Amino acid sequence: MRSHVTQPPIDPLQDRLHRPLGSLRISVTDRCNMRCRYCMPEESYTWLPRASLLTFEEVDRLAGLFVRLGVQKVRLTGGEPLLRHGLVTLISQLAKRVPDVALTTNGILLAEEARALRTAGLGRVTVSLDTLHPERMAQFARSTSHADVLLGITGAREVGFPVKLNTVVIRGYNDDELSPLLAFGARHDVEVRFIEYMDVGGATQWASEDVVSRDEMLKRLQCEPGGGEVRRLPRQNMASPAEQFALPSGQLFGIVSSTTAPFCGTCDRGRLTADGTWYRCLYAEEGIDLREPLRGGASDAELCTIITEAWRDRDDQGAVERLASHRREALYQVKRLREDPRLEMHTRGG
Ligand code: GTP
Ligand code: 5AD
Ligand code: SF4
Repeated sequence: MRSHVTQPPIDPLQDRLHRPLGSLRISVTDRCNMRCRYCMPEESYTWLPRASLLTFEEVDRLAGLFVRLGVQKVRLTGGEPLLRHGLVTLISQLAKRVPDVALTTNGILLAEEARALRTAGLGRVTVSLDTLHPERMAQFARSTSHADVLLGITGAREVGFPVKLNTVVIRGYNDDELSPLLAFGARHDVEVRFIEYMDVGGATQWASEDVVSRDEMLKRLQCEPGGGEVRRLPRQNMASPAEQFALPSGQLFGIVSSTTAPFCGTCDRGRLTADGTWYRCLYAEEGIDLREPLRGGASDAELCTIITEAWRDRDDQGAVERLASHRREALYQVKRLREDPRLEMHTRGG
């Protein structure tokens, strides 16, 4: 299959801060079957109109153009991407074009899909797992499917996927689970990544007191009974959000410190919403509408020009700017999110 993969351009496209366009996160649906408090805490949401969702052919065509312009890595996200009917078909199309196709999922539907996803050519899976306690998940994410998530993780490993876990650490909720989650990771041979709670759109209950910083996580791990020196490893991939660490046992884990130590300087990511709006930053207020030219008959060359010009003009450093803001609180109020659901984290893809 690799022979179909498009080669990266010789003269790589760069933004104003000399950052290449290397990675595209594609949200395939804004719907989710969980309601994590850091992402979807409200009772009701404004959803993207169904007719506005890109078809698989449209997603595949855009992905092909992004690859032509330098993208090497596509991550499918949501909402919950496995809720998108026929996702396996899209993956088999993308796998012919993109060197690295990954999926971020909440894991509920993963066990039943794992084998088909693997066969379709998906390369890697990241599962969100914030707690090992079902009752905590029931309360925190309004979901009683904890057992299914665990089956999803083991099922994905059984069919041979490299699996990572995303754990958003929130004070008073799961900050007592760092070591147990690492032990779970070691037992199942999956890499745990602890993520600082971010004040992104959707996180309407965000408060700075609830953030457990990277430094605090490291201190806690070193001071736990049986803990010890945690070693920071040199970054293997500068553009990856997670820094890697090693426990005294040799077990590796990651920390994504977007809130207290942002990594915008090396950010090579764009995000495509399910309705074809392309964002050049997680925090960007405005996106670039690719659906209209796509459906209006634009040629590949015309679409490439839109993407190229927009990337050359990019100077976003959303998380760095948030860090500099004076009184930090939730980024948006609910009213604003209702008016523009593309500001939501679940719409622009976790
Ligand atoms: P790999 O390095 O390929 O494993 O992928 P990844 O780390 O990009 O994947 P994942 O979707 O698991 O990202 C981990 C978490 O990092 C996300 O859920 C976000 O919380 C955070 N994150 C990802 N991308 C960005 C980004 O562009 N900006 C910021 N500030 N945070 C991000
Ligand atoms: N803070 C940090 N990470 C978040 N995610 C969603 N909302 C937030 C937030 N407020 C990320 C989590 C989850 C993925 C789908 O999106 O990592 O695993
Ligand atoms: Fe990239 Fe924006 Fe995230 Fe910074 S905040 S790492 S620029 S997406």
